Amino acid sequence: MPSAATSHQPPPTAPGALPLLGHSLRLVRDPLPFVGGLREQGELVRIRVGTRPALVVCHPSLVHEVLVTQAHRFEKGGIIFEHLKPVSGNGLFTVEEPDHLRHRRLMQPAFTKPAIAAYTQIMAEEAHRLSEAVGRAGTADIKAATRPAVARILLRSIFPTMPPERVLHFLRCLDTVFAGVFARIVLPVDFLHELPLPRNVRYQRALEQSWATATSIVAEARAAQRSGAHGAGLLPEFMRAGAGVGTDAGTGAAAGADTDRRAQAGTGAGSNADADTNTNTGTGTGTGTGKNPAPGTGFTDTQLRDQVMSLLLAGSENAATVVALACHHLAHDPRVERLLHAEVDSLPATPDAGLVASLPYTARVATEILRLYPPVWCIDRRAQENFTLAGHRFPAGTDVIVSPYLLHHDPELFPDPEHFLPERWEPGRTSERARAAFIPFGAGNRKCIGDAFGMAEATVLLAVLTRSWRLRPAPGARVRVLARAPLAARGVVMRVEKRTEVPADRGQ
Ligand code: HEM
Repeated sequence: MPSAATSHQPPPTAPGALPLLGHSLRLVRDPLPFVGGLREQGELVRIRVGTRPALVVCHPSLVHEVLVTQAHRFEKGGIIFEHLKPVSGNGLFTVEEPDHLRHRRLMQPAFTKPAIAAYTQIMAEEAHRLSEAVGRAGTADIKAATRPAVARILLRSIFPTMPPERVLHFLRCLDTVFAGVFARIVLPVDFLHELPLPRNVRYQRALEQSWATATSIVAEARAAQRSGAHGAGLLPEFMRAGAGVGTDAGTGAAAGADTDRRAQAGTGAGSNADADTNTNTGTGTGTGTGKNPAPGTGFTDTQLRDQVMSLLLAGSENAATVVALACHHLAHDPRVERLLHAEVDSLPATPDAGLVASLPYTARVATEILRLYPPVWCIDRRAQENFTLAGHRFPAGTDVIVSPYLLHHDPELFPDPEHFLPERWEPGRTSERARAAFIPFGAGNRKCIGDAFGMAEATVLLAVLTRSWRLRPAPGARVRVLARAPLAARGVVMRVEKRTEVPADRGQ
């Protein structure tokens, strides 16, 4: 249990801080062992990223306080957030309260499990396309091959009528944008990123093209809606939410309150004269599902464009990391691989909406990978007001870090934490305390809206891939898990062998 009495002793500072650099060298050289080891220092530990101090919360019940019970005292904030904001704008991933709660309520219905089942067909199609490509290649980098599949699943789910060549162009732009964002996070020296160097020009151009593509996707979806088409897809769902259309010009039925902080931040991504009513209020501690949005409070086109970018930023990579690292572990664990094969061999030839539910063991394999390698390994927040945690008082403005990686590797919660053991996730095998500390999708009001979507696509991709192929490490392959934003898997290069024991009627 964390200490509760008010303490006058400040929490300990992690050892090894250097003048000016703080713990940056440790964070660059061996970030996961460094962060994972902080729990040995205490339930709250202070670190410095360069000269910027931050408080790392190491105890699961204190994490719960930050993300859930005291969530209203914290906003998204910190170094990662600051560099994602220019890409995601006022999309759900980076929008701040109170706008966040209203946006969340408008979007949530499109992400319920039954709603997501409608996208299973797209997931299965892309999984088959991936499986065929990997089979043709003979040897494949599984992460590199799966990443476009994951992004295509999301793009097709957002707006199913988008032509394939636009999908590809968008993907290329996004890759350049993500590389640029990462460079800005690890080297937060603004003027270096503003110099007219080729890589900065490429980043800026890719960002502008991504925004332009997102804008045109929204315009097309709006035109289809006006012509009376009841299109499928996440974007048409968001358009229907609120039952009315906000306007960017502020002349519609909705008049109001959302502000475009991206324009204030001077990112050059355009200004937003959005005007619509923010009728929903709340404490910000729920998941935003409690109320239906009032009619006439729908998204404006500018907000929809930001949502497209936000979903792509948050949802077009992580499932690929899960699939790649699952394949890596399966190759080293014949027992788990046999159990997985037994399940995927009975997959129906034609996938239906019940596909994911018929794959419980595959889902446990994916869940265990999310425990071992949570793609979002650090979640950052900034205190909006003074707060007390474990009896310590902290001022507004304190940067607070929660690490799913740290919690998931705590031996008190997960015995033998480095061991890949999908059976942990059988009902009744893992304690309630550990389940509460398992937060690959975060927790509280900012919990991942795409959690069921991400789990479904990782499960379907893994099942379809392993049904046809036995994947073995290619000679000389060296798998590396890099603590980037998000966690990255590199070098998962595998030899693709045809599985001969697949039932004949269910082959490729
Ligand atoms: C394995 C896959 C995924 C993982 C591990 C993951 C992880 C996370 C985490 C940890 C957060 C919370 C961040 C915070 O509290 O600061 C988050 C938020 C979010 N994720 Fe995911 N995510 C995944 C897939 C997806 C997908 C597929 C989508 C879109 C379809 C998506 C969209 C979002 C959005 C929009 C948010 C912001 C939610 C809000 O602030 O209300 N994610 N994700």
